[in-house]
Amino acid sequence: MRQVTGIRVCVFDAYGTVFDFASAVARCDDIPEDKRAALTGLWRDKQLQYTWLRSLQDRYADFWQVTGDALDFTLDSLGIAAPALRHRLMGLYETLPAFPEVPDTLRRLKQTGFATAILSNGSPTMLDAAVRNAGLHNLFDQVLSADAVRIFKTHPRLYEYCLQQLNVEAKQVSFQSSNAWDAYAASAFGMRVVWCNRYGQRRERLPGEPDHEVRSLAELPALLAPPG
Ligand code: LAC
Repeated sequence: MRQVTGIRVCVFDAYGTVFDFASAVARCDDIPEDKRAALTGLWRDKQLQYTWLRSLQDRYADFWQVTGDALDFTLDSLGIAAPALRHRLMGLYETLPAFPEVPDTLRRLKQTGFATAILSNGSPTMLDAAVRNAGLHNLFDQVLSADAVRIFKTHPRLYEYCLQQLNVEAKQVSFQSSNAWDAYAASAFGMRVVWCNRYGQRRERLPGEPDHEVRSLAELPALLAPPG
């Protein structure tokens, strides 16, 4: 296995990579069994579509609003729209748990000398709540939000903003995302990329090519040569 060299900072996507977005629906026992997978899948798909469409239209609204709009569309589509359920799911989205291997992986990376950061479409309030709730506030050096540049991934302006904030070059960043589209875009931008393919996605036919593909972030520390 060839280690990635020259890395100074490990940057992580948030939702689906660090935080388990499927747990919001999983925690609502009263949602009918036959609607659960569709609710999780369509909510996520619609949320992402709205980020891309709003970015194309140059009509930014923050990720909290986009997430709520996508949930409304989804509940309506599945015929289970109810204000109380909406309220509960949005509350759960604010306090999503981290995937089990995340704290230990971050600790190992920091011990090795890497800086750590999140780069996410999430709004600062959402990200702050999720990071604190999962007890990760001491394990990330920076939490960077699309809100600062008012455009979502995969716009290069957001990856560029990340470099400015971290004061590094693209090739000094190892970017981790579970989203194939995000992994390919960061690679096309010039970052080194470890695609954490938790969901068994197919490879994209888009510019870019992740350096490594793993199933869990626990595999990450072994892939990176320690910073010099
Ligand atoms: C994030 C979503 C898109 O940026 O996964 O965190």
